[in-house]
Amino acid sequence: MKQKSDEQVTNLVLKATAKARAEISPDAERGWTEPVQWPVECTVGPGLEGAIACESQIGYVHGAAGSLLYRGYDIFDLAAHSSFEEVSFLLLYGHLPAPAELEKFKANLKRYRHLPVTLRRIMSFPLEEMHPMAALRLGTHMIRQELSYADLEAMRPSIESAISADEDSIPMETMPRGEEHAIYEFKRRRAKARQHRYPPSGMESCYHLISGVAVVAAAIARIRQGCMPIEADDSLSHAGNFLYMLTGRKPDPMEERLMDIALILHADHGMNASTFASMVVASTLSDIYFCIGTGIAALSGPLHGGANEQVIHLLREIGSPEKVPAWYKQARKEKRIIMGFGHRVYKAYDPRARIFAPLARKLARKNKDTWNLYKTAEALEKEVVSTLGKEKKIFPNVDFYSGIVYTCMGIPTEMFTPIFAVSRVAGWTARVTEYLKNNRIFRPRAIYTGPFELEYVPIEKRGR
Ligand code: SDX
Repeated sequence: MKQKSDEQVTNLVLKATAKARAEISPDAERGWTEPVQWPVECTVGPGLEGAIACESQIGYVHGAAGSLLYRGYDIFDLAAHSSFEEVSFLLLYGHLPAPAELEKFKANLKRYRHLPVTLRRIMSFPLEEMHPMAALRLGTHMIRQELSYADLEAMRPSIESAISADEDSIPMETMPRGEEHAIYEFKRRRAKARQHRYPPSGMESCYHLISGVAVVAAAIARIRQGCMPIEADDSLSHAGNFLYMLTGRKPDPMEERLMDIALILHADHGMNASTFASMVVASTLSDIYFCIGTGIAALSGPLHGGANEQVIHLLREIGSPEKVPAWYKQARKEKRIIMGFGHRVYKAYDPRARIFAPLARKLARKNKDTWNLYKTAEALEKEVVSTLGKEKKIFPNVDFYSGIVYTCMGIPTEMFTPIFAVSRVAGWTARVTEYLKNNRIFRPRAIYTGPFELEYVPIEKRGR
């Protein structure tokens, strides 16, 4: 069954690949693919459009053609033949792993899928009241906290007790009552804390984060559904474990493969807002956990990673494919920003949308609701591409069809952007690690347009 579903999915990706290759010829854009001599001249628009932040070998977004490379490999080939583990290794190390390298990398990721202390800690927060991205950012900082007590094995609760944590087993930090006696348990722990098991910005931290963000995101989904987090099953892949820990059931081969492709497609994308934000924090030599927390914060915005959740709300607002023309006519009148369309760099179809669309179509046939969602999306795409596509080169981006795939998997809409983060943590850690090799703190300038030479007036002489 696994082989059959794998073949079906691979064939869908290969068909999308052939269609794309028939339509685009991504000859590298000269200005964006040749090394520069710093200082470099560039024409910068609002929002740093056109600005060159750094040189990098990690990935290339060909805006005019609509193609995407990770370390020189085309995203279509990686989606058809690779895995998220392999792509994460590629982004971090710059080459496709040999079999032994991949096994070692997988073992590292497996080690950090068991975070009982972090799970116990996040359960003491009102996660069900927080947006999952706020909870994920909090959880990422809790992952970092493991560094502080990493060597306190003796004091670490066993996995069972941590997962079955309840009010009593969460170690109440205060000891005897009264402020003069309120001796916090962790003060004693801190006295014993030894050196970090690994530096908070080495490769170990990258593995810790790539696995940890997936574990915490899945736990957040479970807690929001009123369930306890689930321990990873070491026999499953990264994508399979993520789905298992998120839904509470082992994924079928088709679901596991589709989640793996979704994680591949979202792993890296040049100097997007969240990657750049995490690099700005890294450039101050802050540690990588804070960088990833910053990336999660930036990604949560609806203009960036939050769009996938908004697209589903939009499609439900429209209601059906028949209603699209009237809705779109009104939206044009109101100059509405249509979620899931447009891109700062792509002025052609986002290659990731080209891959997600046929996968969404295949999955959406499973029931009337998802088929209606897909057909509404398809009708909206036609309207937008035939108008804004021609007028302003506005096309579907990665967020337009991805949410339909997740909906078909039964994933709650509010978890769509955390899935984006579960994947992008590979690109964030890779780009932070690369930039730190030749670090210089990011410090742009602002044009001052305020007044000059004003005289100070004491408060008593000022008007009301
Ligand atoms: C991601 O950077 C990345 O690589 C991001 C990402 C990644 O992998 O990291 O690819 C992931 O964030 C994808 C984008 C997800 N966001 C959305 O789908 C939200 C909707 N899109 C827009 O908000 C917008 O297209 C942006 C934010 C994506 C890009 O904005 P820009 O480059 O700043 O473009 P702009 O807002 O200056 O728009 C230029 C013109 C404007 O019209 P005019 O004022 O010139 O008349 O295009 C119009 C805009 O109104 N326009 C749209 C539109 N996007 C741009 N009009 C209607 N609907 C849209 N979606």
